[in-house]
Amino acid sequence: MSVSIKASTGNPFARVLSVASYVPSRVIDNAEMCTYIDSSDEWIQQRTGIAERRWVGEEETVESMALAAAQRAVERAGIEGSELGAVIVSTVTYFHQTPSLAAKLAHQLGTNGAAFDISAACAGFCYGLGQAESLVRSGAARYVLVVGVEELSRFTDIHDRTTAFLFADGAGAAVVGPSEINGIGPVVWGSDGGQSQAISQTTEWSEAVANGQTPYLAMDGRSVFKWASGFITDATKQVLDAAGLTPDDLDVFIPHQANNRITDAILRHLKLPERVVVARTIKQFGNNSAASVPMAMDQLLTTGKAKSGQTALLIGFGAGLVYAGQIVTLP
Ligand code: UT7
Repeated sequence: MSVSIKASTGNPFARVLSVASYVPSRVIDNAEMCTYIDSSDEWIQQRTGIAERRWVGEEETVESMALAAAQRAVERAGIEGSELGAVIVSTVTYFHQTPSLAAKLAHQLGTNGAAFDISAACAGFCYGLGQAESLVRSGAARYVLVVGVEELSRFTDIHDRTTAFLFADGAGAAVVGPSEINGIGPVVWGSDGGQSQAISQTTEWSEAVANGQTPYLAMDGRSVFKWASGFITDATKQVLDAAGLTPDDLDVFIPHQANNRITDAILRHLKLPERVVVARTIKQFGNNSAASVPMAMDQLLTTGKAKSGQTALLIGFGAGLVYAGQIVTLP
């Protein structure tokens, strides 16, 4: 039977209302890192820009970090947790296959709204933001919480010199809601599953457990580096084009904190004006995957390096391989 199905009615525009982060307590400097791997402070700083990274302390978990960042973001947005119509968590280090961390988090925040986890690694926060913007504009949810959280220290072989110095822990969260003027540009996103082996779990959980082991992340750093400093620089240009902007319109650039040399390669390609503030939180926080973009955004805002109302370009990229980016007005 042909019927007339009512379409959802939403909001003309969406924006990021708030951002917040949680920084884990354990500081692992390069000197300590070099007790686990054959490396040097000089090599790590020159090749990546990392001076130290944060790992969870005994009391900290993926859940506790996500909750702390989320509570701050909800408070800063000036809404109640019960008003969240959807909670999206991006993580690859929540080791419960089911239920989702998002459903638990939603309950802890006092909402029965939609809740789901996404697996998009270091692009996860930007994937979540793209979905949040669509949900708010479609009317499927009025307020959406997006969380990027990782405990990569638990998913990394600390004696593997190809990954141990890079990966770190942390959480970042943002609330997206309706707006009179547009505050989030079109998401530019995609994947290249042909390169799925470039960053991947060493073995399946069941196989690892049967052998009394823990699976870890393995990475072909050179391939990822090549892809990120080539293809991703083009994707970054597409993010600007999609929003109808040019590099001159930007105030802030927040790339996934993968490696300062990748950030430099993107900068060379984009030819950003000197005045544009560039996130370099990798120096203190390392590469914490889905948490890196919102943590960097929060750090720039709380230290006064970036200001509310400024225009920022976000780009995330990583295991999949996947990527996503968009322009946002900073909360
Ligand atoms: O966040 C998800 C996405 N991930 C990324 O974007 C990571 C992208 N990849 C990278 O950031 C870089 O590839 C790494 C930082 C992981 C590695 O840097 P690289 O410049 O690509 O190093 P490489 O693997 O090409 O190795 C260069 C040299 C080698 O020595 P030789 O062959 O030139 O003598 C390695 O043996 O550095 C040596 N090396 C190290 N030396 C000290 C490799 N790892 C280390 C180490 N300490 N930890």
